[in-house]
Amino acid sequence: MTTPTLPARSDFPQDFLLGVATSAYQIEGHAQGGAGQTHWDTFAATGNNVTRAENGALACDHLNRWEDDLDLIRDLGADIYRFSLSWARIMPEGRGAVNKAGLDFYDRLIDGMLARGLRPAATLYHWELPSALADQGGWVNGDMPNWFADYTDLVMARLGDRLWSVAPINEPWCVSWLSHFEGHHAPGLRDIRAAARAMHHVLSSHGRAIEVMRARGMRNLGAVCNFEAALPADGSPASKAATARYDAIYNQFFLSGLFHGRYPDLVLEGLEQHLPQNYQDDFAHITAPLDWLGLNYYTCKRLSAGCGIWPNYQGVEGPLPKTQMGWEIYPEGLHHFLTHTAKTYTGDLPLYVTENGMANDDTPDQPDVARITYLDAHMRACLRAIEDGAPLKGYIAWSLMDNYEWAFGYEKRFGLVHVDFDSLQRQPKASYHALAQGWRAG
Ligand code: FCB
Repeated sequence: MTTPTLPARSDFPQDFLLGVATSAYQIEGHAQGGAGQTHWDTFAATGNNVTRAENGALACDHLNRWEDDLDLIRDLGADIYRFSLSWARIMPEGRGAVNKAGLDFYDRLIDGMLARGLRPAATLYHWELPSALADQGGWVNGDMPNWFADYTDLVMARLGDRLWSVAPINEPWCVSWLSHFEGHHAPGLRDIRAAARAMHHVLSSHGRAIEVMRARGMRNLGAVCNFEAALPADGSPASKAATARYDAIYNQFFLSGLFHGRYPDLVLEGLEQHLPQNYQDDFAHITAPLDWLGLNYYTCKRLSAGCGIWPNYQGVEGPLPKTQMGWEIYPEGLHHFLTHTAKTYTGDLPLYVTENGMANDDTPDQPDVARITYLDAHMRACLRAIEDGAPLKGYIAWSLMDNYEWAFGYEKRFGLVHVDFDSLQRQPKASYHALAQGWRAG
C-alpha cells in the first residue's frame, strides 16, 4: 500500500474549515474534579457491557493535560475544536447544585482555545447522563426537555459568549435507538416503547435547547446526526424492504423531525403506538431553525430480513476492507449523505462533517497508512460533494487522540495522536503529521 498525499487546505474552498473532535467522558477523567456519577459509569460496572469493564474514570486525563492537548490541536493547523461539556461535571445531580470546579474547567478550556486561535464548537450532551436523571428514566422521561433546557441555560449564562458554535446533542440515533432498543450503550435497554420515547424526547430536548440559546441571542446553532449507508445484502425484495426500514430509522427519522416536522411512515409503522400522546405538538420546538447541520459518518451496513418482528432487519457481513471496528470502508456513503441531505432536507443550509475517522490497532511509530488512506478517501468524497453542489463548509476528524471508545473500552484506537494508557503519554501518529502538512499551509 502506498501512502496517499492528503488533500490540503488549498484544495478546498477558501472559507472551508478543518478541525478535530473529542468528547468529555471519552477523554477527561470523569472520576476527577467533582463530577457526578453517570449512567455510563454504572453501565460499564455491569458485567459484559464494556470490554474488560473499562470506564472513563481516568481516560486520557485531559482534565489535567488540556493545555498540552490544545497545543496539539493548534499545531495540527486546525481551525475548529469540537468538544463536549459533561452535564454531570457541571451539575452532578443533573439539576440543582452546580459544581463550580466543573464550570471553571470549561471556562479555562474555552479561553485556552481562543488564545490558540481555535474556534470552540461545543456539544452539550455526548452521552454521559447524570445518574440522578437516569434514575428517573432519563431520556424516556417526558421531563427531560425541561431538565435539558435548564442545564443549557445555566451553561450558556457562563460560557455562551465565547462559543463559536453549539449543537445540543451528539447523535440522536445513538442516544435513543442504540441505547434503548439495541441495548449496546447506556442505559442498555432493549425495549421498543422506551426507544420510541427516547427518540422523541431527544429531539424535543434539542429543540428546547435551541430556543433557550436563541433567547440569549446566541448564533451558529446546529444539530449533529450520524449516518450509515444502508445497502441491501442481496437483490431480494425482502432485503430491499429491510434496508428501507433500517435507513428510515437510522438516517431519516431525526432529519425528518428536525427539518420536515414529521416522522417517516416506515418508522411510525412500528413506533407510533409507543410515542407520547400528542407528540406532534412538540414539532413546534423540534423544527426551531438551525444555522447548520453536522454529519458524522464512518461506514455502511448490509441488510437482509431479520427475525420477522418489526423492524425486521439484520446486518450481514460485507465484502469491503474493514477497520479495527469491523466497519467496512465506504467513502461513497459520505458523498451520498452530503448531496442527498442537502437535496432532501436542508437546501443551502451549511453542512459540516462533524466526525469521520477510523480505528486501527496502532503502535505509536508505525506509518499509519491505513488511517491516512481512509482520511484521504473521505476528504476526497467531500471534495466531490462540493463539486456536486453540497454546501459543505468544514471537515472535522474523529478523533484528536486515542480515547475511551464506549462499549469497546480502550481497545479501539481512533486517534491522530497515540495515547499510552499506562503513562498517558501522547505521541502524534503519521496521520497527524500528514494532515498537519496540508492543514498548516496557506
Ligand atoms: C461516534 C461517537 C464518538 C465515537 C465515534 C467512533 O458515534 O460520536 O463518540 O465513539 O463514533
